[in-house]
Amino acid sequence: MRFSVFLLLAVSSLATYPSVEHEHLVNVDSTPGSWLTHGRSYREERQSPLTQITLDNVGELGLAWYFDTGTRRGLEASPLVIDGVIYSTGSWSHVFANDAVNGELIWQYDPQVPKAWGVNACCDVVNRGVAAWGDNIYLGTLDGRLVALDRQNGHVVWTSLTIDPTRPYTITGAPRIIKGNVIIGNGGAEYGVRGYVSAYDAHDGSLRWRFYTVPGNPEEPFESTAMEMAAETWSGDLWWKVGGGGTVWDSMAYDVELDLLYIGVGNGAPWNRHIRSPGGGDNLFLSSIVALRPETGEYVWHYQTTPGDSWDYTATQHMILADLMIDGALRKVLMQAPKNGFFYVLDRASGELISAEKYVPASWASHVDLSTGRPVETENADHSIEAKTTKPAPFGGHNWQPMAFNETTGLVYIPAMDGLAPYSTARNFTYLPGGHWNLGQSESDVVLPGNRHLINAVIKRIFKGHLLAWDPVTQKEAWRVEHETMWNGGVLTTAANLVFQGTGDGRLVAYRADSGEQLWETRTLTGVIAPPISYQINDEQYIAVMAGWGGAPTLAFNLPGSTNGANGRLLVYKLGGEANLPVTPEARTIPTPPPRHGSEESIDAGQVLYNTHCGRCHGAGLEGSGLLPDLRDMGHDGTANTPEVFKAIVLQGAYREMGMVSFADVLSETDTEAVYDYIVDAAHTRLEEREASPFWREVEAWFMDLAGALIVWFI
Ligand code: HEC
Repeated sequence: MRFSVFLLLAVSSLATYPSVEHEHLVNVDSTPGSWLTHGRSYREERQSPLTQITLDNVGELGLAWYFDTGTRRGLEASPLVIDGVIYSTGSWSHVFANDAVNGELIWQYDPQVPKAWGVNACCDVVNRGVAAWGDNIYLGTLDGRLVALDRQNGHVVWTSLTIDPTRPYTITGAPRIIKGNVIIGNGGAEYGVRGYVSAYDAHDGSLRWRFYTVPGNPEEPFESTAMEMAAETWSGDLWWKVGGGGTVWDSMAYDVELDLLYIGVGNGAPWNRHIRSPGGGDNLFLSSIVALRPETGEYVWHYQTTPGDSWDYTATQHMILADLMIDGALRKVLMQAPKNGFFYVLDRASGELISAEKYVPASWASHVDLSTGRPVETENADHSIEAKTTKPAPFGGHNWQPMAFNETTGLVYIPAMDGLAPYSTARNFTYLPGGHWNLGQSESDVVLPGNRHLINAVIKRIFKGHLLAWDPVTQKEAWRVEHETMWNGGVLTTAANLVFQGTGDGRLVAYRADSGEQLWETRTLTGVIAPPISYQINDEQYIAVMAGWGGAPTLAFNLPGSTNGANGRLLVYKLGGEANLPVTPEARTIPTPPPRHGSEESIDAGQVLYNTHCGRCHGAGLEGSGLLPDLRDMGHDGTANTPEVFKAIVLQGAYREMGMVSFADVLSETDTEAVYDYIVDAAHTRLEEREASPFWREVEAWFMDLAGALIVWFI
């Protein structure tokens, strides 16, 4: 009864905000025009039942409206649409509530995350969206708070701190809400934290339960019998000091009938298993899918995708629940394409492995043994003595970008990536507390080429992205579309045989779901990584997507083929939409660098220090995607670019409020000057290249491309 009232109100677009209840979330198909929870339903299929936009008319899609979020950092949110309002999140955990028909801003909320907390975010200051329950909207903030906001006006109802603020935890994932429990995890394993997922009371923010994913201090009692079991799979005593990892930073799903909550668990801290757990062991529940009771957090079953993970092969990737006919029987399955390169189909009642096959090249394991459920590692997996180049890279065969499952085609659409990376073992690992990487890798084994064109030529060849349509029953590829760049958007599918995906080169594209034939595309002016959603109001169907280039690989690299030409925006399309995006401003002019400074040795030393401590934010080899300042442009804003100013920023933390913390705990004054010398030298080199004749530039580009191809051929 209440439900039909809800529908009526939504259709007449009255400014009334009925409560979102359990019955709405378990029956999302009764309100096909809304998008009530992260993956549209608890099964997280990202399949919209809407059919107004069809194969025949999709070519008439046009921009209905856009909303500028005001930053150039990554946008990863999957918006919700409830009762005519679209709720999205931007960088720094901002929340925006806009009229879903005309884009008018109704309210916004800025949780005032201290910018210096950004140093703890491995993968950009992103947020993947909010959850709805009752009359509230729920947000996890980058600095670890869970905030309940009044859905009508954005006022804070309650706030709970979910983390120990002395450790580098971050929240980037969207909460899920099951029967009044707000479930939230966190991230931070690269720096050293202990992973867990917690449930808070939706009404008052009190902690209902917490499930740790890895054991803690062996001197203290186990928090659960699951931890007692997990502790037997760890050795040594370093892991718990660093934290052990196993963060639950993104995916969850919920089976209503089985009453099971599924969580995806992340990588180890440190990454390297030879350092983390020197006596071996599986290190439960790293890289696992774990089933829990949503009301108590009680452990039910687990499946570990990468026992003793050593490669950052998280199992936090999107999980989809479906019912598939396999070998003549209807199976209730859970599907995941984690970073490790295998596509898993599990029985979601028991956790039993049904099948696992490589969906991208993977060199660390030959196959998954169906009788034991375990991967069979190759020689390539052992990097304890010498460095190994391994596929996939730490970015994974697939990362957080959501997949989609179309019930009619039976296909899963994966934003897939090919890549490789060197893995090695640090000779003398020392744990660095605070926002420093603690990977347990040997920096000196990973030497980047000095020439930036060469870096780009190598990256272009080793990191590739495509949209992959995968048949989960036969475990085979159905079709693929190659993309210009590795890092692309999440996926939406609709009941009208359509698939939508944004791309890193700045397009939103529609394909036929059964064949992959491209039907429509539009320019978005900046690379898209977020997943599109669809909703319908007053008989008009919309496609909405957050367009904002960002994320870990875009901080570290200027990914070839990518676009970062505009502020991040929420873009909304409909049939016959006639709005236009503003023309983007001209590229900035390059300032004259200060005089060259320091000896050749200092410049060389500076390059290594830069790539160790700075490259992950300002770009490897000084080539980022423009999310953070290009340090070769230092002084462009009128500030002095002298060694003294540089040291004030890098050692004294003069720009702390802007997110640039002091590195005095890892860099000496001489080190810092060496980094300065390297940056200034690189700024001159770039200028000289600009001034060189176009002919010589062509010749150099050609030569570097060839050299890049040779390097990739040898590794
Ligand atoms: C965790 C990310 C991160 C890391 C790592 C990092 N920085 Fe920064 N840096 C920032 C941010 C954020 C800003 C300020 C951006 C802005 O202007 O709003 C910044 C600004 C700067 C600036 C001022 C640039 C300008 O144009 O005004 C300098 C200089 C700088 N960083 C040097 C370094 C050096 C040297 C290192 C390595 C020792 C380093 N940074 C490592 C995030 C980082």
